[in-house]
Amino acid sequence: MPPKSFDPGTFRDKPVSFVRRGGRMTPSQERAWADHHEKYVLDIPRAAAATSVADGVARDPEQIFGRRAPLVVEVGSGQGHAILHAAAERPDTDFLAVEVFRAGLARTIIRAELAGLENLRMVEANAPEVLEKLLPEESADEVWVFFPDPWAKARHHKRRLVSAEFAEITARALKPGGMLRLATDWEDYAVQMREVLDAAPAFERDFAGEWAERFEGRVLTAFEKKGADKGRAIRDLSYRRR
Ligand SMILES: C[S@@+](CC[C@H](N)C(=O)[O-])C[C@H]1O[C@@H](n2cnc3c(N)ncnc32)[C@H](O)[C@@H]1O
Repeated sequence: MPPKSFDPGTFRDKPVSFVRRGGRMTPSQERAWADHHEKYVLDIPRAAAATSVADGVARDPEQIFGRRAPLVVEVGSGQGHAILHAAAERPDTDFLAVEVFRAGLARTIIRAELAGLENLRMVEANAPEVLEKLLPEESADEVWVFFPDPWAKARHHKRRLVSAEFAEITARALKPGGMLRLATDWEDYAVQMREVLDAAPAFERDFAGEWAERFEGRVLTAFEKKGADKGRAIRDLSYRRR
């Protein structure tokens, strides 16, 4: 295991939107990971960093899920609240959770097992690399980014996940007409998201007013609750891939 101060950016030529994957797993999470990760979590070749995706690695969703169905990808799925709920509600759609935090994935595995979900898989990797390399071009129907780490200090803004480059690689992974849905409780990040995506040639706004309506498929997560409890407005955005 890397030391606690290990920075996954070390092996990369650009900053990543997470610092370390730490966080001890509970005994039940350890057990769920040991017993079930092979069923749910894709085994993929890595580059230098543990959460990277090696060049030249691609996975066809039809192979991953054993069928051809609409595909929703959640970036930074955390504990899995949103994707578990959606996968249970929509058995005809496939769901891929992308997360670097293993304890979150283990928690998601526990819930997926309890619910008997067959349409949920996970990748333990840096999401931009998953969108850029692992997923074939025009393979996803939707990409969700709910409450990405805000990196509130100005000197950390370069670590924010949603950037012009992120828009480009997300557009590549989305089918034409596919949707990018985002939510945040950080006003300046919401504004940044909107500026970046308004300027992205591959996307058009899918909302008329200042912000999108709350996405009905989004359940309340601990992060949203914390933001709302602090009096922060929750901003939803939705963009359609041209
Ligand atoms: C603030 S949490 C929100 C989690 C969840 N979406 C929710 O609303 O409860 C952000 C999550 O994104 C994950 N994350 C951050 N950067 C990531 C990246 N580049 N690739 C994959 N996951 C990432 C973090 O590990 C963390 O679990």
